[in-house]
Amino acid sequence: MSETETAHLPTKAIVGRLLREHIRRYIPRMTMAVFFMGLVAAATATYAWLVQPILDEVFIEKDHSRLFGITAAVLAAFAVKGMADYGQTVIMARVSMRIVADIRQRVYESLIRADLAFFHGTSTGELIAGCMNNVDLMRDAVANTLTAMVKDILTVAFLVSLMFYQDWELALVVIVVFPLALVPVSRIGRKVRMRASRAWAELEQVTGFMSETFRGIRHIKAYGQEERETERARDRIDALFLRIFKTMRAKAAISPIMEVLAGVAVATIIVYGGGKVIAGETTAGAFFSFVTALLLAYQPLKNFAKLNNHLQEGLAAAQRVFVLIDVEPEIRDREGAADLRVAEGAVSFDDVGFAYGGVTALDGVTLRVPPGGTAALVGPSGAGKSTVLNLIPRFYDVARGAVRIDGSDVRDVTLASLRRGIALVSQDVALFNDTVAANIAFGRPGASAGEIEAAARAAAAHDFIVDLPGGYGAVVGESGVKLSGGQRQRLSIARAILRDAPILLLDEATSALDSESERQVQAALSRLARGRTTLVVAHRLSTVAEADVIYVMDAGAVVESGSHAELLARGGLYARLRSLQTTDEPPVPRAAGDG
Ligand SMILES: Nc1ncnc2c1ncn2[C@@H]1O[C@H](COP(=O)(O)OP(=O)(O)O)[C@@H](O)[C@H]1O
Ligand SMILES: [Mg+2]
Repeated sequence: MSETETAHLPTKAIVGRLLREHIRRYIPRMTMAVFFMGLVAAATATYAWLVQPILDEVFIEKDHSRLFGITAAVLAAFAVKGMADYGQTVIMARVSMRIVADIRQRVYESLIRADLAFFHGTSTGELIAGCMNNVDLMRDAVANTLTAMVKDILTVAFLVSLMFYQDWELALVVIVVFPLALVPVSRIGRKVRMRASRAWAELEQVTGFMSETFRGIRHIKAYGQEERETERARDRIDALFLRIFKTMRAKAAISPIMEVLAGVAVATIIVYGGGKVIAGETTAGAFFSFVTALLLAYQPLKNFAKLNNHLQEGLAAAQRVFVLIDVEPEIRDREGAADLRVAEGAVSFDDVGFAYGGVTALDGVTLRVPPGGTAALVGPSGAGKSTVLNLIPRFYDVARGAVRIDGSDVRDVTLASLRRGIALVSQDVALFNDTVAANIAFGRPGASAGEIEAAARAAAAHDFIVDLPGGYGAVVGESGVKLSGGQRQRLSIARAILRDAPILLLDEATSALDSESERQVQAALSRLARGRTTLVVAHRLSTVAEADVIYVMDAGAVVESGSHAELLARGGLYARLRSLQTTDEPPVPRAAGDG
């Protein structure tokens, strides 16, 4: 990600893509807006032009008959301008907000399909900025810039025509001065674009940092790290300040440069034009009409110069957004992949090797889960147990060997059918800020209230649910904060029960629980596992003794396997881990007042 961040695509490529993919379908509407912009520009030029008859005929020749006609024309010009401006603003607002909504949707769709590995490599801040802030910047570019660019350019075009009509020699002088002004301005524009892009990268960092802080707020308080976090925040915020300030400083140079150049132009014109009026070569009306046109052209030109910066910022943002839209999942259906039909549900690993970004996590793992039976994975943390589970639903693909279900390689079947066949209960329960019922039905959205309740009962969750204010309709809070760890875990088991998949993956599903809720959850899990192929990772070895087969893992490899009794008899790692745990958990309850 960060590599593509620094590599700037050519402007033309970005603009071309924006036009093709996001803007083209709105061109009919935008044509209407352009028509209104044309009216605005024409009306503006009209009153610059009206200055000539006002001066020459009303003020100098004192022609009374022209007074009301010209006044009416001035009024009409203002009215047309006002209405047309309203029309184009409304149309462009609608189109640009529509484009923003479309792009957000595209980014979201692309991200939600991205590989897990992508999420590990990209901060939440970056992703949220990609969906939200960057898209807003793009809107500024697409809408405001486009609007003003068309409107301002048309206005300038009309005014310049009027200037040529009034005095072509003088107009030529002006035409030479203004483009000169744009040279330094465009150079600064490029600088602004680069700096803006760095500032946004920094903003993403700050966003990510803050979201991390607030999610971990309990731990920060518990460890008394508020000061240190505040210091870290200060560093980040200061870095952001510096980046934004540098962008703004570069930007700030643009207006003054334009203004000084405009001043020079106006002074030149007064000397030259004034001389011509004094010599009688042109009328005062024509001269003032010219000056009016020039002054009216100044603002749109200035906008144009500023808008170039907006456009540059927008392009940098568009580039970041495109990076996200272009994220392609590597894990996807193979050409002609068939649906997996789980018949027996035999899961096997054949000499599987896997690495997280070059760091080996599994090295030659071979294991078999008997169809409908239970296999347990035990071993020290970091041994690769969760990794084994992750490979079954293809959260990642193996680097070597194969994972098979009923003999078919998981890479040869469709992802949707594969994942339909699997229910996962892990230690980190993902609850969404919705009702209890909706959270249970997450994996089966059409489930009836009766089915949801049955699943909750099987997961030993029904009783606590009906005690919640609102019962099944109670909203659980963000990530389920309104529930205890054990309650969350039981909801996730109910979810897995309702999913009713033939293969069940349990990753330390009970390790976050106290012993009372663990007992309840354990009973629910045993019920759930009945008749399903189950792969269970358990921290407490007492819970795996019943498994048909136990695989002991260490440092990414299976080091022992067999039944509980066999492994104990063998006196290897399993027996050692077991004896550690039994001394850890003294069988005699401690005296009251201890805990
Ligand atoms: N997303 C990840 N990115 C990089 N390394 C990872 C990732 N997840 C796990 N690992 C590493 O892979 C190894 C195995 O991890 P894991 O399967 O989670 O172990 P276990 O579940 O047995 O505790 C560990 O060394 C861990 O640091
Ligand atoms: Mg684990």
